Amino acid sequence: MRIPLAAGNWKMNLSRDEAIALAQAIKEQASDSQRVDVLLCPPAVYLDAVCKIVEDTLIGVGSQDVFWQPEGAYTGEISAPMVRGMGCSYSIVGHSERRHLFGETDEEVNWKVKAAQQNDLTPILCVGELLEERQAKQTDKVITRQVEAGLEDLDADDVLNLIIAYEPVWAIGTGEVARPDQANEVHGLIRSILQDRYDTSISNGMRIIYGGSVKPDNIAGLIAQSEIDGALVGGASLKADSFLEIIEGCA
Ligand code: 13P
Repeated sequence: MRIPLAAGNWKMNLSRDEAIALAQAIKEQASDSQRVDVLLCPPAVYLDAVCKIVEDTLIGVGSQDVFWQPEGAYTGEISAPMVRGMGCSYSIVGHSERRHLFGETDEEVNWKVKAAQQNDLTPILCVGELLEERQAKQTDKVITRQVEAGLEDLDADDVLNLIIAYEPVWAIGTGEVARPDQANEVHGLIRSILQDRYDTSISNGMRIIYGGSVKPDNIAGLIAQSEIDGALVGGASLKADSFLEIIEGCA
């Protein structure tokens, strides 16, 4: 039984006061439920504050990125031990904005996955094709490459502590959500890659969540799909009301 995950990726948004108010509202109104896991991924500068707000609850906190080295002369970067030390339990890795705006490679994404895991953080490995790639019928090839590369060197025990997020780049921040059946097909492909690399119990047990223009009015159709185990939400996670509706929708 895969427990759905509703994760909010706040990206580079909100003032400190707004971030605190949002975390508090989610804490007060998202009932601690066994039916859905809730995760907040605020900007790194608010991780400390958000971790403190939700520390006595089942709500998890994750960073939006993590560097692969544990320490050193890497100005501006944040390491996995630092993220873990703040009280986080997850880290988004390989988000399409990191890949496409900041040139992150598949290999670097894999190093980040491993750094997160070595520090007791559950990586949320993001994969997704560009619009041109979908139009050129390259979706399966791109997703297979990104998943295989992201999981390089990971054995069966490692992947138990990992979540995959399918986020088609053309659906991120565009209001154009993937059709539930379209998303489900790619999730099915990812599950079959996991089955080939590992085994059925791993591929059946692993959570694969969808991201890209998830809103209160489309979550029901997505979560009803057999292979979709939750949502990674951008814009609609910035308002308590809409994120709470999505949490309910996932449950
Ligand atoms: P939107 O929900 O704003 O499309 O963003 C999706 C996303 O990138 C979550 O990581």
